[in-house]
Amino acid sequence: MSENKENKSTDMEKIIKYICFNKLSCLCGADEHLGSSINLQRLVKCLELTKDIPGDFVETGVWRGGASMLAQAFFMKNKINKKVYAADSFEGLPRPQVEKYPVDAGDIHFKFPSLSVSREEVEENFRQINLLNENVIFVEGWFEDTLPILRESLDKISLLRLDGDMYDATWNSLVNLYDKLSIGGIIIIDDYSTHFRCKKAVLDFREKYEITEEIKDPEEPDDYFGLGSTSTGRSSGGVAWWIKEK
Ligand SMILES: C[S@@+](CC[C@H](N)C(=O)[O-])C[C@H]1O[C@@H](n2cnc3c(N)ncnc32)[C@H](O)[C@@H]1O
Repeated sequence: MSENKENKSTDMEKIIKYICFNKLSCLCGADEHLGSSINLQRLVKCLELTKDIPGDFVETGVWRGGASMLAQAFFMKNKINKKVYAADSFEGLPRPQVEKYPVDAGDIHFKFPSLSVSREEVEENFRQINLLNENVIFVEGWFEDTLPILRESLDKISLLRLDGDMYDATWNSLVNLYDKLSIGGIIIIDDYSTHFRCKKAVLDFREKYEITEEIKDPEEPDDYFGLGSTSTGRSSGGVAWWIKEK
């Protein structure tokens, strides 16, 4: 490995440690005490795999911003001209809209104040390590309102990361953004096997739009990225993903 490449990977490891130490991403999970996170390392692998695919990075559901910060750090360190779209209500999850999304009945995420992080706080998290510039675009509001507008201003997406937990968030992200994902681009669904409402939205969407790419099974320790398993003993802690082929 060239010295240059070594420096870059060390830089990304430092950022991951910073994110976990400061609890800036749910992805740190049980690994955070190690100052590391397999899921953040996997995100870096996905960023590497899609760096030459046309389009930008989009995350729907950013919380404190850690995963979007990692994407921005990767682009800045590697001098890649991609934007980071960070979409969130910045006021937590919505109450279930049971008439529109019956599967969300009973969801209680809206009751958790810890999931409500203001845009100012997320901006400050980026600013703290010099990641805030004109390439970071905050998309503020409920997904069903903001994502139809975002899709009009977006050209292509190279890496799409869904992390909104509920059917509402997952469905709105998919119907508005999936067709913007470039061929060869990657979609990551954080909550696929841990939140059945999220999984149902993914399965409904795939069935309706006849999407047949294999979902990499989050419970299968196939270790695609060669990074070992998480401290939960699962390969990915519930994260599913696939590469868009058509
Ligand atoms: C689990 S957190 C995201 C964690 C983050 N991606 C990370 O890596 O740490 C879920 C986020 O989704 C947002 N969210 C969920 N449903 C939403 C909706 N319908 N519209 C806008 N934001 C939503 C919440 O505000 C919250 O910040």
